Amino acid sequence: MSNSDLKQMQTLAALGVTSAAQVKSLFGELRAQFDAQTAKASDEDLWKALRDGWLGRKSGVLTLVTDNWLKPSSPELKRAVGASLNELRTHVNAHIEARRVAIEAGTEMAAAAKERVDLSLPGVIRPIGSHHLIREVFQEIEDIFFSIGFSVVEGPEIETPYYNFEALNIPEHHPVRDDMDTFYLDVPKGEPGLLLRTHTSPVQIHTMERRDPPVRVIVPGKVYRRDNPDATHSFMFHQIEGLAVDCDITFCDFTGTIDYFVKQFFGEGVKTRFRPSYFPFTEPSVEFDASCVFCGGSGTARTGGTCGKCKGAGWIELFGAGMVDPTVYGFVNYHPAKVSGFAFGIGIDRLAMLKYGIDDIQVFFQNDVRFLEQFP
Ligand code: PHE
Repeated sequence: MSNSDLKQMQTLAALGVTSAAQVKSLFGELRAQFDAQTAKASDEDLWKALRDGWLGRKSGVLTLVTDNWLKPSSPELKRAVGASLNELRTHVNAHIEARRVAIEAGTEMAAAAKERVDLSLPGVIRPIGSHHLIREVFQEIEDIFFSIGFSVVEGPEIETPYYNFEALNIPEHHPVRDDMDTFYLDVPKGEPGLLLRTHTSPVQIHTMERRDPPVRVIVPGKVYRRDNPDATHSFMFHQIEGLAVDCDITFCDFTGTIDYFVKQFFGEGVKTRFRPSYFPFTEPSVEFDASCVFCGGSGTARTGGTCGKCKGAGWIELFGAGMVDPTVYGFVNYHPAKVSGFAFGIGIDRLAMLKYGIDDIQVFFQNDVRFLEQFP
């Protein structure tokens, strides 16, 4: 339908309207058109089009009706046209305004709904972490040695064969030097070899190179060996090395210190003993045992039968230790005749497993929260 076909573009005479009743029905049609368009004006743009289409000064429907129907109408019809036009104008004005208010409220509500902060929603709950059990046990052991005058030193995890072996009096043919036991780093040909330390003992050498006696240190850290993972082996595990060197340290100081430590760590009721052992850098060398923490040293499980942990022996192997071999002092320019001391190498993972009744070392490295959160 072109514009000129619209009824408001033509005069009433042209439309053949001659009676007041026809005028009324004509206005009724217009009003129905307006109502239909208003119902569809659901957003601001449609509403503006509606407003301009009906109230526009030059070519809005009301202006056209005034110009084409009212002004040229016959005197008999003018009254009826004027009255209907006023009615329509009131209707149009009121509904266009009402529509504007409704649309504005709707946009505001939509915007408000978007921005609304729902304070009743649960917040983001981030679980509180805690130290890994290995870190806790490090801390426990460090605290015990702090209380008797030791301090902490640390050393590199990548070592030279000199610090890891030679200076510790570990001869060339010793099995720990074997490729099967040690991780060697790929280094360019001709450069000095490097390896992942197999124990924390090289830090004994670093420490004595740097300090004169008296020395009382513990060395917490990671160590690496080419072991296949199983319930008691891991290619990376943790040790605390201990070293005490002074001018008058005796074997009694040594065993007394270890006994003190073991009782502090496992409880006063635990007994200790030592057995002869061998390490190239200690002489004599010993292996310390504690009375079994599971069966109280009886060898019999609480439920009757042989204790599975100590296999009925009543004793559990703890760690290696010994009096520092005088040969080692030669490597660090200590006077072998003037100083004496002891050293020990505690396997942290093993001690943690004993104290907390854990039977698989792998759980320390799997990072399963269900395990970790048992030790908050
Ligand atoms: N370094 C030894 C090991 O890893 C333990 C040890 C340390 C033994 C100090 C004696 C003295 O097995």
